[in-house]
Amino acid sequence: MKIRRIAVMTSGGDAPGMNAAIRAVVRSANAKDVEVYGIRRGYTGLLSGDFERLTNREVSGILQRGGTILQTARNAEFKTEKGQKRGLRRLNEQGIDGLVVIGGDGSLTGALALHEMGFPVVGIPGSIDNDIWGTNMSIGVDTALNTILDAIDKLRDTASSHERAFLIEAMGRNSGYLTLMSGILGGAEIVVTPERPIELEEIAQALDDAYMRGKSHAIAVIAEGAKHKINEVAAYLETHPCGFEVRVTILGHVQRGGSPTAFDRLLATRMGVHAVDELLAGRSGVMVGLDGRSITPVPLAEVISQKREITESYFEMAQILSR
Ligand code: ADP
Ligand code: F6P
Repeated sequence: MKIRRIAVMTSGGDAPGMNAAIRAVVRSANAKDVEVYGIRRGYTGLLSGDFERLTNREVSGILQRGGTILQTARNAEFKTEKGQKRGLRRLNEQGIDGLVVIGGDGSLTGALALHEMGFPVVGIPGSIDNDIWGTNMSIGVDTALNTILDAIDKLRDTASSHERAFLIEAMGRNSGYLTLMSGILGGAEIVVTPERPIELEEIAQALDDAYMRGKSHAIAVIAEGAKHKINEVAAYLETHPCGFEVRVTILGHVQRGGSPTAFDRLLATRMGVHAVDELLAGRSGVMVGLDGRSITPVPLAEVISQKREITESYFEMAQILSR
Protein backbone atom coordinates (compact mmCIF):
# COMPACT_ATOMS: atom_id res chain seq x y z
CA MET A 1 0.00 0.00 0.00
CA LYS A 2 1.33 3.45 -0.88
CA ILE A 3 1.57 5.73 2.14
CA ARG A 4 0.12 9.18 1.39
CA ARG A 5 -0.88 10.49 4.79
CA ILE A 6 0.68 9.82 8.17
CA ALA A 7 0.01 11.03 11.71
CA VAL A 8 2.37 11.79 14.58
CA MET A 9 1.69 12.02 18.31
CA THR A 10 3.56 12.49 21.58
CA SER A 11 2.37 10.48 24.58
CA GLY A 12 3.22 9.86 28.25
CA GLY A 13 5.70 12.12 30.05
CA ASP A 14 7.08 14.89 27.85
CA ALA A 15 10.81 15.02 27.11
CA PRO A 16 13.05 17.75 25.66
CA GLY A 17 13.63 16.98 21.98
CA MET A 18 10.10 15.75 21.25
CA ASN A 19 9.52 18.91 19.19
CA ALA A 20 12.69 18.29 17.20
CA ALA A 21 11.36 14.79 16.42
CA ILE A 22 7.94 16.14 15.35
CA ARG A 23 9.65 18.66 13.07
CA ALA A 24 11.84 15.97 11.50
CA VAL A 25 8.82 13.70 10.90
CA VAL A 26 6.84 16.53 9.30
CA ARG A 27 9.56 17.92 7.09
CA SER A 28 11.00 14.60 5.95
CA ALA A 29 7.51 13.28 5.12
CA ASN A 30 6.50 16.48 3.32
CA ALA A 31 9.70 16.29 1.28
CA LYS A 32 8.40 12.94 0.00
CA ASP A 33 4.91 14.31 -0.73
CA VAL A 34 3.42 12.57 2.28
CA GLU A 35 0.90 14.66 4.24
CA VAL A 36 1.29 14.79 8.02
CA TYR A 37 -1.36 15.21 10.70
CA GLY A 38 -0.55 15.92 14.33
CA ILE A 39 -2.69 14.22 16.98
CA ARG A 40 -3.15 16.38 20.07
CA ARG A 41 -2.65 15.01 23.61
CA GLY A 42 -1.52 11.50 22.69
CA TYR A 43 -4.06 8.69 22.81
CA THR A 44 -6.63 11.07 24.32
CA GLY A 45 -6.66 13.08 21.09
CA LEU A 46 -6.64 9.90 19.05
CA LEU A 47 -9.85 8.76 20.74
CA SER A 48 -11.56 12.14 20.40
CA GLY A 49 -10.40 12.63 16.79
CA ASP A 50 -8.28 15.69 17.60
CA PHE A 51 -6.16 15.81 14.42
CA GLU A 52 -4.60 18.85 12.72
CA ARG A 53 -2.69 19.16 9.48
CA LEU A 54 1.01 19.96 10.00
CA THR A 55 2.79 21.65 7.13
CA ASN A 56 6.42 22.73 7.27
CA ARG A 57 5.30 26.12 8.56
CA GLU A 58 3.49 24.68 11.61
CA VAL A 59 6.78 23.22 12.80
CA SER A 60 8.84 26.39 12.32
CA GLY A 61 10.69 27.64 15.37
CA ILE A 62 10.12 24.54 17.53
CA LEU A 63 13.48 22.76 17.19
CA GLN A 64 14.94 24.45 20.28
CA ARG A 65 11.80 24.29 22.43
CA GLY A 66 11.29 21.84 25.30
CA GLY A 67 7.91 20.18 25.91
CA THR A 68 5.77 19.17 22.96
CA ILE A 69 3.68 21.43 20.72
CA LEU A 70 1.25 18.55 20.26
CA GLN A 71 0.88 18.27 24.04
CA THR A 72 0.70 14.92 25.74
CA ALA A 73 -1.51 12.94 28.08
CA ARG A 74 -2.04 9.68 29.86
CA ASN A 75 -5.19 7.84 28.84
CA ALA A 76 -6.58 4.80 30.65
CA GLU A 77 -9.26 4.01 28.05
CA PHE A 78 -6.67 3.29 25.36
CA LYS A 79 -5.34 0.43 27.47
CA THR A 80 -8.57 -1.47 26.76
CA GLU A 81 -9.36 -3.34 23.56
CA LYS A 82 -12.47 -1.22 23.10
CA GLY A 83 -10.40 1.96 23.31
CA GLN A 84 -7.83 0.62 20.87
CA LYS A 85 -10.55 -0.30 18.35
CA ARG A 86 -11.98 3.20 18.64
CA GLY A 87 -8.50 4.63 18.03
CA LEU A 88 -8.10 2.51 14.94
CA ARG A 89 -11.46 3.69 13.67
CA ARG A 90 -10.45 7.35 14.13
CA LEU A 91 -7.26 6.78 12.13
CA ASN A 92 -9.28 5.21 9.32
CA GLU A 93 -11.85 8.03 9.40
CA GLN A 94 -9.04 10.55 8.87
CA GLY A 95 -7.56 8.52 6.00
CA ILE A 96 -4.28 8.00 7.85
CA ASP A 97 -2.00 5.30 6.39
CA GLY A 98 0.70 5.21 9.08
CA LEU A 99 1.39 6.50 12.60
CA VAL A 100 4.51 7.67 14.45
CA VAL A 101 4.25 7.42 18.25
CA ILE A 102 6.82 9.35 20.29
CA GLY A 103 6.88 8.31 23.95
CA GLY A 104 8.00 5.95 26.66
CA ASP A 105 7.36 2.29 27.43
CA GLY A 106 3.62 2.72 27.99
CA SER A 107 3.11 4.71 24.80
CA LEU A 108 5.07 2.15 22.82
CA THR A 109 2.88 -0.62 24.29
CA GLY A 110 -0.10 1.25 22.87
CA ALA A 111 1.71 1.54 19.52
CA LEU A 112 2.28 -2.21 19.48
CA ALA A 113 -1.43 -2.80 20.10
CA LEU A 114 -2.31 -0.78 16.98
CA HIS A 115 0.31 -2.64 14.95
CA GLU A 116 -1.14 -5.98 16.10
CA MET A 117 -4.54 -4.80 14.87
CA GLY A 118 -2.95 -4.38 11.44
CA PHE A 119 -2.23 -0.63 11.46
CA PRO A 120 1.25 0.54 10.33
CA VAL A 121 3.02 2.09 13.34
CA VAL A 122 6.60 3.13 14.11
CA GLY A 123 7.74 4.18 17.59
CA ILE A 124 10.32 6.73 18.69
CA PRO A 125 11.71 6.43 22.25
CA GLY A 126 11.04 9.68 24.13
CA SER A 127 11.46 9.68 27.91
CA ILE A 128 13.95 11.26 30.27
CA ASP A 129 14.15 8.00 32.26
CA ASN A 130 16.31 6.06 29.75
CA ASP A 131 14.47 2.91 30.70
CA ILE A 132 13.49 1.85 27.18
CA TRP A 133 15.02 -1.36 25.90
CA GLY A 134 16.48 -1.38 22.36
CA THR A 135 18.09 2.06 22.35
CA ASN A 136 21.24 3.32 24.01
CA MET A 137 19.59 6.66 24.62
CA SER A 138 16.01 7.97 24.51
CA ILE A 139 15.11 11.50 23.49
CA GLY A 140 15.34 13.87 26.47
CA VAL A 141 17.80 11.92 28.61
CA ASP A 142 20.84 14.03 27.77
CA THR A 143 19.01 17.30 28.43
CA ALA A 144 17.63 16.02 31.74
CA LEU A 145 21.10 14.88 32.78
CA ASN A 146 22.52 18.30 32.02
CA THR A 147 19.74 19.95 34.03
CA ILE A 148 20.49 17.70 37.00
CA LEU A 149 24.22 18.39 36.72
CA ASP A 150 23.61 22.12 36.63
CA ALA A 151 21.62 21.77 39.87
CA ILE A 152 24.23 19.54 41.52
CA ASP A 153 27.02 21.97 40.64
CA LYS A 154 25.07 24.83 42.17
CA LEU A 155 24.12 22.88 45.27
CA ARG A 156 27.75 21.86 45.69
CA ASP A 157 28.74 25.56 45.86
CA THR A 158 26.40 26.25 48.75
CA ALA A 159 27.02 22.84 50.35
CA SER A 160 30.72 23.50 50.53
CA SER A 161 30.29 27.06 51.86
CA HIS A 162 28.18 25.74 54.75
CA GLU A 163 29.86 22.34 55.18
CA ARG A 164 26.59 20.54 54.55
CA ALA A 165 25.45 17.29 53.05
CA PHE A 166 22.81 17.63 50.33
CA LEU A 167 20.36 14.89 49.55
CA ILE A 168 19.18 15.43 45.97
CA GLU A 169 16.28 13.51 44.47
CA ALA A 170 16.40 12.72 40.74
CA MET A 171 13.52 11.42 38.60
CA GLY A 172 13.39 8.14 36.70
CA ARG A 173 10.29 6.29 37.90
CA ASN A 174 11.70 2.79 38.53
CA SER A 175 15.00 3.44 36.81
CA GLY A 176 18.16 4.71 38.50
CA TYR A 177 19.88 5.75 35.25
CA LEU A 178 19.62 9.52 35.78
CA THR A 179 20.66 9.15 39.40
CA LEU A 180 23.68 6.98 38.69
CA MET A 181 24.97 9.02 35.78
CA SER A 182 24.41 12.39 37.44
CA GLY A 183 26.05 10.99 40.58
CA ILE A 184 29.17 10.00 38.68
CA LEU A 185 29.31 13.18 36.61
CA GLY A 186 28.40 15.46 39.51
CA GLY A 187 30.92 13.87 41.88
CA ALA A 188 28.42 12.50 44.41
CA GLU A 189 29.62 10.75 47.55
CA ILE A 190 26.83 8.20 47.21
CA VAL A 191 24.11 7.24 44.72
CA VAL A 192 20.96 5.43 45.77
CA THR A 193 19.07 3.63 43.01
CA PRO A 194 16.20 1.13 42.80
CA GLU A 195 18.53 -1.32 41.05
CA ARG A 196 20.92 -1.49 44.01
CA PRO A 197 18.91 -1.00 47.20
CA ILE A 198 20.99 0.48 50.02
CA GLU A 199 19.98 0.47 53.68
CA LEU A 200 19.65 3.70 55.66
CA GLU A 201 22.67 2.84 57.86
CA GLU A 202 24.86 2.50 54.78
CA ILE A 203 23.79 5.87 53.40
CA ALA A 204 24.51 7.54 56.74
CA GLN A 205 27.85 5.71 56.92
CA ALA A 206 28.90 6.91 53.44
CA LEU A 207 28.19 10.53 54.38
CA ASP A 208 29.91 10.14 57.73
CA ASP A 209 32.96 8.59 56.02
CA ALA A 210 33.14 11.60 53.71
CA TYR A 211 33.07 13.86 56.77
CA MET A 212 35.77 11.87 58.53
CA ARG A 213 37.95 11.94 55.40
CA GLY A 214 37.89 15.72 55.70
CA LYS A 215 35.52 16.60 52.87
CA SER A 216 33.99 20.07 53.14
CA HIS A 217 30.60 18.83 51.96
CA ALA A 218 28.84 15.75 50.62
CA ILE A 219 26.31 15.01 47.89
CA ALA A 220 23.92 12.04 47.86
CA VAL A 221 21.82 11.56 44.72
CA ILE A 222 18.74 9.50 45.52
CA ALA A 223 16.38 8.14 42.86
CA GLU A 224 12.67 8.82 43.27
CA GLY A 225 12.15 5.07 42.89
CA ALA A 226 14.73 4.07 45.53
CA LYS A 227 13.71 1.68 48.32
CA HIS A 228 14.19 4.40 50.95
CA LYS A 229 12.72 7.72 49.76
CA ILE A 230 14.64 10.94 50.24
CA ASN A 231 12.52 12.18 53.18
CA GLU A 232 12.98 8.86 54.94
CA VAL A 233 16.74 9.20 54.53
CA ALA A 234 16.63 12.77 55.86
CA ALA A 235 14.55 11.69 58.88
CA TYR A 236 17.02 8.89 59.61
CA LEU A 237 19.94 11.31 59.48
CA GLU A 238 18.23 13.50 62.09
CA THR A 239 18.47 10.72 64.63
CA HIS A 240 21.76 9.32 63.29
CA PRO A 241 23.88 12.42 62.58
CA CYS A 242 26.56 12.07 59.91
CA GLY A 243 28.82 14.97 60.78
CA PHE A 244 27.36 17.31 58.21
CA GLU A 245 24.22 19.37 58.59
CA VAL A 246 21.72 17.95 56.08
CA ARG A 247 19.53 19.65 53.46
CA VAL A 248 17.10 18.11 50.99
CA THR A 249 16.45 19.18 47.38
CA ILE A 250 13.82 17.44 45.27
CA LEU A 251 14.48 18.49 41.68
CA GLY A 252 11.09 17.35 40.37
CA HIS A 253 9.65 18.35 37.00
CA VAL A 254 12.33 20.94 36.32
CA GLN A 255 14.18 17.87 34.97
CA ARG A 256 11.60 17.44 32.21
CA GLY A 257 11.76 20.96 30.79
CA GLY A 258 14.19 23.18 28.96
CA SER A 259 15.72 23.54 25.56
CA PRO A 260 17.09 20.23 24.22
CA THR A 261 20.86 19.83 24.09
CA ALA A 262 22.69 19.39 20.78
CA PHE A 263 22.76 15.63 21.47
CA ASP A 264 18.99 15.44 21.94
CA ARG A 265 18.26 17.61 18.91
CA LEU A 266 20.43 15.38 16.76
CA LEU A 267 19.04 12.14 18.18
CA ALA A 268 15.44 13.36 17.78
CA THR A 269 16.07 14.62 14.26
CA ARG A 270 17.69 11.37 13.14
CA MET A 271 14.95 9.27 14.75
CA GLY A 272 12.20 11.38 13.19
CA VAL A 273 13.67 11.00 9.71
CA HIS A 274 14.25 7.26 10.18
CA ALA A 275 10.73 6.69 11.50
CA VAL A 276 9.26 8.13 8.32
CA ASP A 277 11.66 6.06 6.21
CA GLU A 278 10.54 2.91 8.02
CA LEU A 279 6.87 3.62 7.37
CA LEU A 280 7.49 4.46 3.72
CA ALA A 281 9.52 1.26 3.34
CA GLY A 282 6.41 -0.63 4.47
CA ARG A 283 7.71 -1.60 7.90
CA SER A 284 5.54 -1.54 11.03
CA GLY A 285 5.68 -2.62 14.66
CA VAL A 286 9.20 -1.33 15.15
CA MET A 287 10.88 1.36 17.23
CA VAL A 288 13.84 3.28 15.86
CA GLY A 289 16.66 2.89 18.39
CA LEU A 290 20.21 4.18 18.75
CA ASP A 291 22.61 1.27 18.37
CA GLY A 292 26.23 2.42 18.47
CA ARG A 293 26.35 5.14 15.82
CA SER A 294 23.36 3.88 13.84
CA ILE A 295 19.63 4.36 14.10
CA THR A 296 18.21 0.84 13.79
CA PRO A 297 14.68 -0.59 13.80
CA VAL A 298 13.92 -2.88 16.74
CA PRO A 299 10.65 -4.88 17.01
CA LEU A 300 8.26 -3.19 19.46
CA ALA A 301 7.38 -6.62 20.85
CA GLU A 302 11.01 -6.97 22.01
CA VAL A 303 11.20 -3.40 23.26
CA ILE A 304 8.29 -3.76 25.63
CA SER A 305 9.02 -7.28 26.81
CA GLN A 306 12.58 -6.59 27.95
CA LYS A 307 13.98 -4.52 30.77
CA ARG A 308 16.79 -2.10 30.04
CA GLU A 309 19.53 -2.77 32.57
CA ILE A 310 22.07 -0.21 33.74
CA THR A 311 25.66 -1.09 32.84
CA GLU A 312 26.94 -2.70 36.06
CA SER A 313 30.43 -1.21 35.87
CA TYR A 314 29.01 2.30 36.39
CA PHE A 315 28.12 1.37 39.97
CA GLU A 316 31.73 0.45 40.74
CA MET A 317 32.91 3.60 38.99
CA ALA A 318 30.56 5.73 41.12
CA GLN A 319 31.91 4.17 44.30
CA ILE A 320 35.62 4.33 43.44
CA LEU A 321 35.44 7.91 42.22
CA SER A 322 33.54 9.12 45.28
CA ARG A 323 36.53 8.56 47.57
P1 ADP B 1 5.24 6.54 29.00
O1 ADP B 1 4.85 6.38 27.59
O2 ADP B 1 6.06 7.78 29.24
O3 ADP B 1 5.83 5.28 29.59
P2 ADP B 1 2.74 5.94 30.36
O4 ADP B 1 3.21 4.64 30.93
O5 ADP B 1 1.91 6.81 31.24
O6 ADP B 1 3.91 6.86 29.83
O7 ADP B 1 1.89 5.58 29.05
C1 ADP B 1 1.34 6.60 28.26
C2 ADP B 1 0.04 6.14 27.67
O8 ADP B 1 0.26 5.02 26.81
C3 ADP B 1 -0.98 5.63 28.68
O9 ADP B 1 -1.69 6.66 29.33
C4 ADP B 1 -1.90 4.82 27.79
O10 ADP B 1 -2.79 5.64 27.06
C5 ADP B 1 -0.90 4.18 26.82
N1 ADP B 1 -0.56 2.85 27.34
C6 ADP B 1 0.19 2.55 28.43
N2 ADP B 1 0.21 1.23 28.66
C7 ADP B 1 -0.55 0.66 27.70
C8 ADP B 1 -0.95 -0.67 27.40
N3 ADP B 1 -0.56 -1.71 28.15
N4 ADP B 1 -1.74 -0.87 26.32
C9 ADP B 1 -2.16 0.17 25.56
N5 ADP B 1 -1.84 1.45 25.81
C10 ADP B 1 -1.05 1.70 26.85
O1 F6P C 1 8.56 9.06 32.83
C1 F6P C 1 9.00 10.38 33.04
C2 F6P C 1 8.71 10.82 34.45
O2 F6P C 1 9.15 12.15 34.61
C3 F6P C 1 9.29 9.92 35.54
O3 F6P C 1 10.65 10.16 35.75
C4 F6P C 1 8.42 10.29 36.70
O4 F6P C 1 8.34 9.23 37.63
C5 F6P C 1 7.07 10.52 36.06
O5 F6P C 1 7.32 10.80 34.69
C6 F6P C 1 6.30 11.66 36.66
O6 F6P C 1 5.05 11.70 36.08
P1 F6P C 1 4.04 12.93 36.18
O7 F6P C 1 4.42 13.92 35.14
O8 F6P C 1 2.73 12.32 35.90
O9 F6P C 1 4.18 13.51 37.55
